[in-house]
Amino acid sequence: MMQPADIVAQMRQLIQLIAKHNHAYYVMDQPTITDNEYDQLFHQLKALEADHPDLVQTDTPTNRVGGQALTKFQTVTHKVPMLSLGNVFNQEDLFAFARRIEERLPNQQIQYDVELKLDGLAISLWYEDGKLVRGVTRGDGETGEDITQNVKTIRNLPKHLHHSSQPVPRFLEVRGEVLMPKLGFERLNAANEAKGEKTFANPRNAAAGSLRQLDPSIAASRPLAFYAYGIAQCEPAHGLASMHESLQWLTALGFEIAERQFLCSSIQEVQQRYEQIQQERPQLAVEIDGMVIKVDDLKQQQQLGFLSREPRWATAYKFPAEVAMTTVENIDWQVGRTGTLTPVARLTPVLVGGVTVSNVTLHNIGEIHRLDVRIGDRVSVYRSGDVIPKVEKVWPEFRPENAVEVQLPAQCPVCSSPVVMPEGEALARCSGGLYCAAQRIEAIRHFVSRKAMDIEGLGDRWVESLLHLDLLKDVADIYHLHEHREKLLTIEKMGEKSVQNLIDAIEASKKTTLARFIYALGIRGVGETTARMLANTFQTLDALKQADIEMLKKTPDVGDITAEWIYDFFLAEHNVEVIKRLLAAGIHWDAPIAPTRQPLNGESWVVTGTLSTMGRDEATQRLQALGARVSGSVSSKTKCVVAGEKAGSKLDKAEKLQVRVMNEDEFLAFLAQYNA
Ligand code: IVH
Repeated sequence: MMQPADIVAQMRQLIQLIAKHNHAYYVMDQPTITDNEYDQLFHQLKALEADHPDLVQTDTPTNRVGGQALTKFQTVTHKVPMLSLGNVFNQEDLFAFARRIEERLPNQQIQYDVELKLDGLAISLWYEDGKLVRGVTRGDGETGEDITQNVKTIRNLPKHLHHSSQPVPRFLEVRGEVLMPKLGFERLNAANEAKGEKTFANPRNAAAGSLRQLDPSIAASRPLAFYAYGIAQCEPAHGLASMHESLQWLTALGFEIAERQFLCSSIQEVQQRYEQIQQERPQLAVEIDGMVIKVDDLKQQQQLGFLSREPRWATAYKFPAEVAMTTVENIDWQVGRTGTLTPVARLTPVLVGGVTVSNVTLHNIGEIHRLDVRIGDRVSVYRSGDVIPKVEKVWPEFRPENAVEVQLPAQCPVCSSPVVMPEGEALARCSGGLYCAAQRIEAIRHFVSRKAMDIEGLGDRWVESLLHLDLLKDVADIYHLHEHREKLLTIEKMGEKSVQNLIDAIEASKKTTLARFIYALGIRGVGETTARMLANTFQTLDALKQADIEMLKKTPDVGDITAEWIYDFFLAEHNVEVIKRLLAAGIHWDAPIAPTRQPLNGESWVVTGTLSTMGRDEATQRLQALGARVSGSVSSKTKCVVAGEKAGSKLDKAEKLQVRVMNEDEFLAFLAQYNA
């Protein structure tokens, strides 16, 4: 039978081993054992703990915070404010920083502690009798948020302090930075992308997003790491004399510190270390945005004190944004899901801050003109705070004679439909919304949605499978799916019944209204209300198709730009072709109510407050059926405001503007008079 002391020793050994492998995995991204072996260590520890619950160690990794999500974070006031640092950007500024210090400390030897400026989030940790009791964000420096549950999930952060030769302090407040190491960040983004989830722009955002999760199990799943860089409070006093001793002591207590740190005897040496780290930056495990230079001696720090909210004894020495020269080999146009054309410059691959950059977005044609960038041009590209590279400048002095100016393509590079860009718009778009393969998913999603053709059951999962089977090239193919029943049955988890339900829903959607059909086409700028106006005004689809821009502009709710979008939509042959196929498949509708029976034509109405006999949606629809335009805000042009219970500012405004107001009873009587 094992003695309790042996069991504890075994537990401690396992805890240390697991901590070591956590560090190798999450921080260095260099696991030295397989996942299986890691799990075995974990299970061994768990089994020991299950057999000896009275001996469970407080810092055991098996005892991570439970899955309890918080509803909000508590605010905590920092006992010692978390201040910020001044900045220097070049050698001259750095030497001036040193001169100011020397003037205040004449005839004193000054040593500088040079640290990495970690690009993450500053936090503060409170330890009572060696036990982690609280983690707080920097916040505004005076007050932060209590993120204890989340910091407890950070693998390399000690939950319990130990020192081999000294007692741990009664109270200790440690400051440092939470980061997501670069490789962990790439892994997280790759995994999120594979799952179709949101990716993060840079490790800093990923770390911030993870720390601010109310559900600690999410933070726990993120590869975060903590690096200590200072002590805010210690009881009893630690008696240490310098920054570098403080960092050593923190390491002895179980904290991790950044992967580089230097003690320099002159400011010239500081400059050399800065240049060295700038070179080594790409090889570091974490993102840094400069160096932090601190007077090493703690007494000297005290003598120097603070100037407003910044210490005189420390400064940040920021790196300039990394810039590299390369050549624009081509400019391609990418078509987004909503039809936007984005120019992308293809570059001769070049290293910028340790990352190879071969593409850079130019955003839109306006940006191309602003930069005057041409194919063949030499350009400088940079990566600033975020990871996304940008063109800094075009160098016309290196422009080759055969450089080619870039034009907005006349036709969509994906579907050859005309490209349109109404005046006043910054973005060019493909007009083949119904047909363009780049816009296929969005077009289908919109077409089947509740307020459009309302095909219940044709959700994203179906659509993905159908695209995969090549059964949906455009929305008209929806009405031919019944011809492929056998293929539909091969889709995983789609049985006879769900296939039949889908086919029935598609069949049922064929009877619709002209307004719904127009809305379903997904014409830019044509929402539900505009579609209704167009249906009421033009009465038939043919009349709408043949309308010129001037006629379109006369429709209530249709402005200059929307008129152009509608016109261009019907000009794109491919769209017309798809519409023909939709109608041929049997989509039909009753003729809309003639405008002569629309007594509220051209009037603007507002519905506000709560009605007891119907919802606001229904009131809106009934007014629209009479030809009214229902708006969300009251103006002098408003014809009438229908005010239900608890009507607020809109009613006040109506009264101020002397707009007619109807209560619910009056409104019901009004509708009754039209049988509406
Ligand atoms: S010491 C009095 N050391 O820089 C301020 N800060 O502007 C003492 N930072 O938000 C801060 N690495 O998050 C210090 N090695 C380092 C640092 C560091 C990054 C951040 C910190 C703070 C900001 C100060």
